[in-house]
Amino acid sequence: MKVLGIESSCDETACAIVEDGKKILSNVVATQIPFHQIYKGVVPEIASRKHAEWILPVVRQALCEAQMNLCDVDAIAATNRPGLMGSLLVGLTFGKTLAWACGKPFLAVNHMMGHMYAAHLANDISYPYIGLLVSGGHSIIAKVNSFDDFEILGTTIDDSVGEAFDKVAKFYDLGYPGGVIIDKLSQKGDSCAFSFPVPKLDKGDHEFDVSFSGLKTAVIHQAEMFLNDGYENSVENIAASFQETACKTLVTRLVRAVKATSITTVVAGGGVAANSRLRAMLSARRNRQQGHRFPPLKLCGDNGAMIAGVAYHLLKRGDTSPLSTTACARIPQFKRGLANLEAFGRR
Ligand code: KG4
Ligand code: ZN
Repeated sequence: MKVLGIESSCDETACAIVEDGKKILSNVVATQIPFHQIYKGVVPEIASRKHAEWILPVVRQALCEAQMNLCDVDAIAATNRPGLMGSLLVGLTFGKTLAWACGKPFLAVNHMMGHMYAAHLANDISYPYIGLLVSGGHSIIAKVNSFDDFEILGTTIDDSVGEAFDKVAKFYDLGYPGGVIIDKLSQKGDSCAFSFPVPKLDKGDHEFDVSFSGLKTAVIHQAEMFLNDGYENSVENIAASFQETACKTLVTRLVRAVKATSITTVVAGGGVAANSRLRAMLSARRNRQQGHRFPPLKLCGDNGAMIAGVAYHLLKRGDTSPLSTTACARIPQFKRGLANLEAFGRR
């Protein structure tokens, strides 16, 4: 079964064709980074206009690279939540229209389920596992029972981890997107140079939660002091120390989740899963009889393949989405903690 997946929730216009939820026949990602870079962040109005301009050529290119016509596609899928409303609407409306015009089934896919599925495109992974979803908008630790059944253990109580990377980079005027730049800079820095606070969220429901707002503020404050004193070179050290603390925060909660559930496989997804230090920390734990899986770097960020992958499993189960399906900017807030696992996947 060949599924065409469209992703347009933020600032990448993407389309991929995936066979049987595994074999990527094409994967086209048109990034808008140069258009947002000058504003040091995503401008929603520019993002939706670029999606509208690019969606047709991107879909055409995905078909061309897969050497297929629309009639060879078995179903069409698009992200419908969460994300920027204007951006989501472009891909979703395009996907629904294409499905209607060609008489193919349509599937609306949750972007975060897509990120979790990305690692499955390159690995054989069995359920359940502990999922770490780390992106620009989310930081979620979940017990993942199937491609669309997540039980939320923890989430952020303030900023997402990607947001913290981006805000620290913006403060330093390092460029956009911040995560990639901080990751690179950190390789030249000393991660022990600064000691930043690891949030203490140990009580009750917050056992698996994370927080990055305090860390972000501490890093910015430190930077202010250093830049005033003329120690600009220490930006690499600050970047490395910040990255180390952010990754440590995530890994500590993951270790707790592994202990509490006795599930030893950890699977990561989302833009921050590309972080070299996070990957190294989790890979080091692999030696302790734990299987840890990541998507390949090119599937960590937003892409259509992860959407087509999830859609294949929905379709196989007999699900389709009506053409009345709408976009939704947010996914609901969750209660947290092992005591009150909250279902995320059931729609
Ligand atoms: O998944 P994604 O592409 O889009 C969302 O769904 O939000 O994630 C984007 C986020 C941004 O905050 C970006 O700075 C971060 O992922 N990111 C990274 C790295 N690459 C991207 N953060 C840390 N290290 C990286 N190498
Ligand atoms: Zn994403």
